[in-house]
Amino acid sequence: MNVSDSERLEGELQNMGLEKIVETNPKRGALNADVVLVNTCSIRDHAEQKLYDQLGPVAARKRKGEDVAVVVAGCVAQQEGEALLRRVPEIDVVMGPQYVGRVNELLSSATERGGHQVVATDPTLIMEDISKPIRGSKVRAWVNIIYGCNEHCTYCVVPGTRGIEQSRTMESILEEVQTLADDGYKEVTLLGQNIDAYGRDFTPKRSFAELLTYLNNNVEGIERIRYVTSHPRYFSDAVISAIANLDKVCECFHLPFQSGDDEVLKNMRRGYTFDSYMRIINKIKTQAPDASICGDVIVGFPGETEEAFQRTLDLMEAVKFDNLNTFAYSPRPNTEAALWEDQIPDDVKSERLQKLQRLSIQHATERSERYLGEVVEVLVEQTNPKNSDQVMVSKHLDIELLFIRI
Ligand code: 5AD
Ligand code: SF4
Repeated sequence: MNVSDSERLEGELQNMGLEKIVETNPKRGALNADVVLVNTCSIRDHAEQKLYDQLGPVAARKRKGEDVAVVVAGCVAQQEGEALLRRVPEIDVVMGPQYVGRVNELLSSATERGGHQVVATDPTLIMEDISKPIRGSKVRAWVNIIYGCNEHCTYCVVPGTRGIEQSRTMESILEEVQTLADDGYKEVTLLGQNIDAYGRDFTPKRSFAELLTYLNNNVEGIERIRYVTSHPRYFSDAVISAIANLDKVCECFHLPFQSGDDEVLKNMRRGYTFDSYMRIINKIKTQAPDASICGDVIVGFPGETEEAFQRTLDLMEAVKFDNLNTFAYSPRPNTEAALWEDQIPDDVKSERLQKLQRLSIQHATERSERYLGEVVEVLVEQTNPKNSDQVMVSKHLDIELLFIRI
């Protein structure tokens, strides 16, 4: 979501006549630019500290009297708001993720003659993508379908930083996907914090399964439709059969489970259990036996006992994921679980994470073996810049890149 926001921000800035500096090292880039924009993500780790480190050199330029504008966007901006201006007074604009489409307005009002610092963090209606994002790939593209999240998982910053759910209309999504297809794109990934919530804010309500069917049947030229990410509490039979049966929709399920222990799941406020999660997996395996199944998992959530952790490993054994995104719990600002006393020590978290990652790699390897000796269709992204005999392809949802000799 954050990468997609960056592409949209870049498009907006280009519309203002700004040009991106081609510089692989952001710190060096910040030494030459007229506008420095840092788009932040605070889902895990110490995002705030990283931001202060990045702002150091550009703030120093400004203190020397150089004419440079500084914009901080994204979830840290939303979370910290005005406090950021107190900490780094050289910042011109602090803007939350809901303001991506308005960066030009905000930047102008901060930099015009007589302008003033701007903090844009109030909840607002998201502006549709008026300008074209500057996309990072020529064959695969992100397409937002729903912004925000109405869940209240006790570890997660998203509801606080991205606000309440706002679905885009099916028609405007279709238009964007059709334009991408016309421009030669082969694959789209539909984005939402919780795609299963798609359309529940409309009257009459719409559903994700309806959207998949609508895109599958009405877009000419797109070959692959993917999504990220879903919520086991809401994942419906209709979505399973849409993914299993629609020809353009990749048979790849991304279903974060976060933990295999019912008590931990309750404390995370996830609204499902080991058994109810497995019921969904079993339906998927019945309806789409060859589909890949991916997930997200957190270890070391407050109060996670050794037995609870073992149940997470048990769930992994029961599913055998093709790919898992694995995380150590990170206490985040303004989230409930961060305040609980039964935090797990870092060394225990990292020990559990390593154990879990070993098992996850073992399962992924076992799952990949089903392709041995098979001829499969792949999406070629580009040639290897270092070796033109090789092309780069992406596999499954989680963008594993492979080089294949041609
Ligand atoms: N600590 C660790 N992992 C987290 N995630 C979200 N919040 C946290 C946190 N506080 C993980 C979840 C989610 C993924 C995007 O990031 O697994 O599915
Ligand atoms: Fe965060 Fe996902 Fe839970 Fe929403 S559903 S609060 S985005 S973990």
